[in-house]
Amino acid sequence: MKMTLSRADFPEGFVFGTATSSYQIEGHGFGGAGPTHWDSFAATPGNVVRAENGAVACDHYHRLEEDLDLLAGLGADAYRFSTSWARVLPEGRGPVNEAGLDFYDRLVDGLLARGIKPAATLYHWEFPSALADLGGWRNRDIADWFGDFTAVIMGRIGDRVWSAAPINEPWCVGWLSHFDGHHAPGLRDIRAAARAMHHVLLAHGRATEVMRGLGMRNLGAVCNFEWSEPASDDAGAIGAAATYDAIYNRFFLGGLFKRAYPEEALAGLEPHLPDGWQDDFDSIAQPLDWLGLNYYTRKLIDHRPGPWPSYAEVEGPLEKTQMGWEIYPDGLRDFLIRTARDYTGDLPLYVTENGMANADTADRPDIARIDYLSRHLNAARAAIADGVPLRGYFTWSLMDNYEWALGYEKRFGLIHVDFDSLQRTPKASYQALADWWR
Ligand code: FCB
Repeated sequence: MKMTLSRADFPEGFVFGTATSSYQIEGHGFGGAGPTHWDSFAATPGNVVRAENGAVACDHYHRLEEDLDLLAGLGADAYRFSTSWARVLPEGRGPVNEAGLDFYDRLVDGLLARGIKPAATLYHWEFPSALADLGGWRNRDIADWFGDFTAVIMGRIGDRVWSAAPINEPWCVGWLSHFDGHHAPGLRDIRAAARAMHHVLLAHGRATEVMRGLGMRNLGAVCNFEWSEPASDDAGAIGAAATYDAIYNRFFLGGLFKRAYPEEALAGLEPHLPDGWQDDFDSIAQPLDWLGLNYYTRKLIDHRPGPWPSYAEVEGPLEKTQMGWEIYPDGLRDFLIRTARDYTGDLPLYVTENGMANADTADRPDIARIDYLSRHLNAARAAIADGVPLRGYFTWSLMDNYEWALGYEKRFGLIHVDFDSLQRTPKASYQALADWWR
């Protein structure tokens, strides 16, 4: 099956790529990486499907060249990868693991040799355990620890990366991991969540400062978004959806671009934010060169009696992916339009993640993914037609990988990975994108 789109449907110079992250593909057990909070979270019964972890993952650490060849075969212009803090600094700070730095050096050089732009994310969730012991994202010192890591990793590869963003998806780092408890460190505590949400932005700011100091350009931020729709036209549902939207979608954009957090989020979080939080926006709201949006789905939200945030997700009627997420391309269009209108103006935007999980096998064409991608790319085109300065689009993900608390069951890849043999098999969606991108 072919995509009905072509490069000519997008502006000149539009960047197409795919994304992955370190812990989800590399194999964290190799090459001298230090322990992370995902290793201990996964080792705690009940947190992760079958208690699976990233120790082997896709064994990308040992199969780098093969994987980069597959990426080149796709005709991708750019590749969004992340650097593992604990691989580079096994204790989170102090002694450097040279083998870790060498790995990212080879990755960046391997991309450049194939004519692919390296788009780096410094942190995609595997927090070094030694710093987790000191309170992790709850500790304000995280900004300096992360700044120091930034100096080490970007001191090595910063001269050759095309773009860099400090932190993947602040909402997941803050709320999902410290309030919902679904991701490491698995806390369910409003004070921890408020602090983590603020400190993640402080760390973003510090890392951005460090990278500017190194003379790096094309620096951005990557946030995730879920379109929140009131489950009914009842005032309670409308208010609940607004609260969900504020926490999920507007908190981080508010900090980064308006030097303020939305009222509906402060209503519950303010008493738990660290003292003096209002004075941190000089650090947080550093000028950026672009913003990345990760988008997968929408949620129907209803009022739920009980303490703030007093909302509940309701199952929606739309077709769903293997994650149980509704397929809702209009949300991508609407987020792109709203973000440019309310926050970023002329700043270049990128879709830094979009894709679907599907119960793929190596031999059955993943028609559903081709359809999902086509529909979301058309939504992106609609935003461009509306005047949004969208400059690129990255599919999640290059290959099937460790889907966090859901283990290896949810397949997001353009390439099928057999997690026993580790054999890679390009799917029909890989071929469809390759026919188009090459
Ligand atoms: C995003 C994450 C990515 C992957 C996709 C499905 O929230 O950034 O690591 O898990 O969801």
